[in-house]
Amino acid sequence: MSKKNLISITDFSKEEYLKIMELSRQFEEHPNQSLLKGKVVATLFFEPSTRTRLSFETAINRLGGKIIGFSDSNSSSVSKGETLHDTIKMVSNYADLIIMRHPLEGSARYAAEIADVPVINAGDGANQHPSQTLLDMYSIKKTQGRLDDINLFMVGDLKYGRTVHSLLMAMSQFKNPIFNFVAPPELAMPDEYKLFLTNQGIRYYEHLEFNEIINQADIIYMTRVQKERFIDPVEYEKVKNVYILKNEMLAGTKPTVRILHPLPRINEIHTNVDSNPKAYYFTQARNGVYTRMAIISHLLNLQ
Ligand code: CP
Repeated sequence: MSKKNLISITDFSKEEYLKIMELSRQFEEHPNQSLLKGKVVATLFFEPSTRTRLSFETAINRLGGKIIGFSDSNSSSVSKGETLHDTIKMVSNYADLIIMRHPLEGSARYAAEIADVPVINAGDGANQHPSQTLLDMYSIKKTQGRLDDINLFMVGDLKYGRTVHSLLMAMSQFKNPIFNFVAPPELAMPDEYKLFLTNQGIRYYEHLEFNEIINQADIIYMTRVQKERFIDPVEYEKVKNVYILKNEMLAGTKPTVRILHPLPRINEIHTNVDSNPKAYYFTQARNGVYTRMAIISHLLNLQ
């Protein structure tokens, strides 16, 4: 049987999204399992991470598997000049599954072509972050009770923010989504994603501000301005604090609205929002463990 990877969110069908939602729910109810006993998973992080790496490693531990890998490529033979090709070829000799984050767009797809074992993209440059998307969807499903008819506000760096790109593509599979993109022109949603929505007849709106319209939102998805993707630091300085969500701005919002953020946060959500019941970003990060258990379980056919 051919191996299954998760490189782009479009590698999974709508049925698979729903299966991951259900498995996540089951793992949340019963987190300690031994489905991965006897298996080795490699986590290769060529870029910094807190949540993605640690929640994947927690998921592997909770499933009873073993972990190899690195969180800093300088501690691997990459620092001696070994290519990504040879690194992946070697690691697929050792592990049953590879989870990789890499700064180059397309690197995860390349790794999947080389590896003999399944590969999960844990973020490739500004391109995609599909496991984040599945945990975002699980968070939306848990808080809204549905994935259809969601009015989703995406705020901040919509150009370089890979999480919004993956989330947009996944949510477009459900009925009647409305996308509201809030970004300055320098960080606007790239045309290819807007064209994708237009071709599917899905509504989207672009805004420079959101104070006046925030009351329509079911989900407010805040994002960090991705400093590491800017070539010119002066350009980053111009936009770094472009939107800051403050508690007082939430006064007239729907009681059911929830604020999501893939994290890390810099300034884009004021800390005075943290104690508001509409703030969901820390629980969202916890959901990542259950969703990543579900993804691993699905790719390795463990259930
Ligand atoms: N959400 C996310 O990808 O966080 P990390 O960069 O800490 O993994």
